[in-house]
Amino acid sequence: MTVNLATRELRTNPYPTYQHLRKNEPLATMQHTLFGKSYLITRYDDAVQVFKDPRFTNDRRKVKEGTSIIERMMPNIMVTFQSQMLSVDDPDHRRQRDLVHKAFTPKMIEQMAVKMEGISAGLLDKMNGKPTVDMVGEYALQVPLTVISDMMGVPHKDRAKFHHWSAAFLEGISSLGWRTLTQLPTMYRMVQFFRRLIDLRTVDPQDDLITGLVRAEQDGDRLSKDELVSMIFLLLLAGHETTVNLIANGTLALLENPDQLQKLQQNPALMDSAIEEILRYSNPVEQIAPRWVLEDVELHGQIIPRGSTILVSTASANRDETAFDKPDTFDIERQPNKHLAFGLGIHYCLGAPLARMEGKIALDALLNRYPKLELAVPSDQLQWRGAVNVRGLKALPVRLNA
Ligand code: HEM
Repeated sequence: MTVNLATRELRTNPYPTYQHLRKNEPLATMQHTLFGKSYLITRYDDAVQVFKDPRFTNDRRKVKEGTSIIERMMPNIMVTFQSQMLSVDDPDHRRQRDLVHKAFTPKMIEQMAVKMEGISAGLLDKMNGKPTVDMVGEYALQVPLTVISDMMGVPHKDRAKFHHWSAAFLEGISSLGWRTLTQLPTMYRMVQFFRRLIDLRTVDPQDDLITGLVRAEQDGDRLSKDELVSMIFLLLLAGHETTVNLIANGTLALLENPDQLQKLQQNPALMDSAIEEILRYSNPVEQIAPRWVLEDVELHGQIIPRGSTILVSTASANRDETAFDKPDTFDIERQPNKHLAFGLGIHYCLGAPLARMEGKIALDALLNRYPKLELAVPSDQLQWRGAVNVRGLKALPVRLNA
């Protein structure tokens, strides 16, 4: 079976297909027009191996074999987008990560909690009086977009525009084919936008991350120009296109499981473990960045040839019955819960403490302010986004019942 993850059916509910693949075809093949023949990993143990085994690289440039026609046609602009830490291995990865790591430590994030509470409260105030709201557009998206833009130093007027581009970009690369090329104008606009931001912070330095990164680039050997643009892109995109799904999918999971919602409302101290279960069960990120095979690797009796692309569905790994008891049950008290939602190994999510804190504060504030919240449409009418690497709702209409 050649898997196509981008169908509407799989975007709506990929889990039955993942279950089938884990059982019958743990090394499935995919026709990926951009990368050529690719393999899809769906089991937990295999995912862990890919994260840890140095024969799988994040750096496309290390394997020229298997380069597809589309890739060869990709202009230099793609190179800019591939210079960030997630697309390279150590030592370049470590050098880049160290430059921003300090801004994302649990201690730094703790200090931002009051600010996040203010952002959540302001958005919830705005909803007051409305019978129905879209929880994605009016809340789940706005919290992380505001937080990461404030941290980075993106002017208010540009934030919605950037989100529009990043959403189109994710959608485009998910088509895994020629449609990716239609995203080139968007990529071009984004690069221009980042260059303008860099110019702005060069002449008008502020106490923000972009200013810090501009200084690192000016230092010469700490960050190249491409890496600077690429880093801003990665942090802005990863900083909001993921957490929006944690908040919205989490709200949905709670509304669809009223016993769990009630348990949480009766005992708010369960919020930490509820966030971990939302991450495992609802998978804000469905598939990690592609890996490439540096030498032939044998897996499940097959040889994966050097140069092949490996795609790992952490969403499937997080529902693997050999790793989790009753994996399709949403249990906010689940212990242990060794989910892979933030990845593993050297590329483990840099923003994990930030995302956890945002999710916790946003859901806490929402449930406190509107405890009688309910879905405004049946679950089966909800529409999911077309992007395959993140798992997110287009909209989540809810009645506030204030
Ligand atoms: C619920 C929210 C989030 C989820 C589920 C998530 C998930 C992930 C995953 C799975 C990876 C590893 C990808 C791989 O190995 O290919 C990753 C890496 C990364 N994430 Fe997150 N992320 C979230 C929020 C954030 C936030 C808020 C930021 C803030 C900027 C962020 C920044 C990054 C960065 C920079 C990397 C690359 C790290 C590296 O290469 O060393 N993420 N994330």
